[in-house]
Amino acid sequence: MIESPAPAAPGAVPALDPERISADFPILAAGPNTGRRLAFLDSAASAMKPRAVIDSLRATYEGAYANVHRGVYAHAATATANFEAVREQVRALLNARTPREVIFTRGTTEAINLVAYSWGRTNLGPGDIVLTTELEHHSNLVPWQQACAATGGELRFIPVDDDGVLDVSDLDSLVAGGTLRMVAVVHASNSLGTITPLDLVVPWAKAQGSLVLVDGAQSVPHTSVDVQALGIDFLAFSGHKLMGPTGAGALWGREELLAEMPPWQFGGEMIRRVEYAGATFNDLPWKFEAGTPAIAEVIGMGAAIEYLTGLGLDAVHAHEVQLVRYGHERLLEVPGLRVLGPALGEPRGGVLSFTLEGTHPHDIATLLDTQDVNVRAGHHCTQPLMKRLGIHATARASVYAYNTREDVDRLIDGLGEVRRVFGLT
Ligand SMILES: Cc1ncc(COP(=O)(O)O)c(C=O)c1O
Repeated sequence: MIESPAPAAPGAVPALDPERISADFPILAAGPNTGRRLAFLDSAASAMKPRAVIDSLRATYEGAYANVHRGVYAHAATATANFEAVREQVRALLNARTPREVIFTRGTTEAINLVAYSWGRTNLGPGDIVLTTELEHHSNLVPWQQACAATGGELRFIPVDDDGVLDVSDLDSLVAGGTLRMVAVVHASNSLGTITPLDLVVPWAKAQGSLVLVDGAQSVPHTSVDVQALGIDFLAFSGHKLMGPTGAGALWGREELLAEMPPWQFGGEMIRRVEYAGATFNDLPWKFEAGTPAIAEVIGMGAAIEYLTGLGLDAVHAHEVQLVRYGHERLLEVPGLRVLGPALGEPRGGVLSFTLEGTHPHDIATLLDTQDVNVRAGHHCTQPLMKRLGIHATARASVYAYNTREDVDRLIDGLGEVRRVFGLT
């Protein structure tokens, strides 16, 4: 049962009404297996889309579609204006200084690859250290492995303890004997929900003269992120995780850094002048946007940002904190179940990763699906982290603004059924 929210105290963050919000998401109305409301608990992988985003895609293709930046006819001008307006929306979302600092990419992965390739291959060399964490998604690990392999730089790791909580107690020793050039860290772990204490890591990194890149794939959709207040240099996120279409996301970077970095992909849009013998390159941000971009998808990401900021990111965050706490408490009631990541009551993103003795996470996810409860099972693109924790996989439930306590209750009921099927009761 959903309890009605208590009236908000003056100045307090207004409570979200997830039932009302889910009415904006056509796919949640009925699950494919039971016809009941879909208890979708896999938004960390990709979020569902509100009608506003679906309508935006349709409106672009039906009403104002053309390639951007080139055409002189009306549809081209409208498409370009709608596309470029999203750059300003992203600037405002992140409190960046100027839209020139916003580079559209296919998502977080491409944004990090851009920095690791362009900045990394220009600036790293033997003796230089890139510091990341043992929590990272492969997207913020493999690009740095490659950059270090190409330049002689060295990749080092902030360790996690046996529960997957970061140990930041002795950062200095992690960079001994080298020059720290880049700290590339996840903001909120997709795998465990662990939060990186940026308030501690960023000032320390800056005192070492290092740059900081934040993988915001799991934070930007769920909470207010202010790149200036954080004092960081780069931030990457994916539109599809913030209710937008797939294929669009962004890199934010400090203008003076981006201005110095060489382009990493070459072709149309990113050039200023081309001769047979060579070329000069466009200004920011277009010098990093070679080729036709994801036009309708970027515009759709703008619709998602408008929808999300309409809900209020502080309210979304507060809702998720409550729901994750409730889910955590309820999961701990299940015999044989282990929740990984931060302890109950510690800061945690909207993710609950768990194992259940005597079962495999894939079996858990498959059985839950018969009840239209969707969770993810696997290594969550964090294979080294799984190895570090001595497991192969977890089941992962993740929440968003449209999730209710009833979704969590259905997860718990479904886990009871899993235990029954496996003869664990
Ligand atoms: C923390 C984190 N980083 C990076 C990514 C990669 O995002 P994308 O596949 O949208 O590029 C994900 C996606 O799951 C993620 O959760």
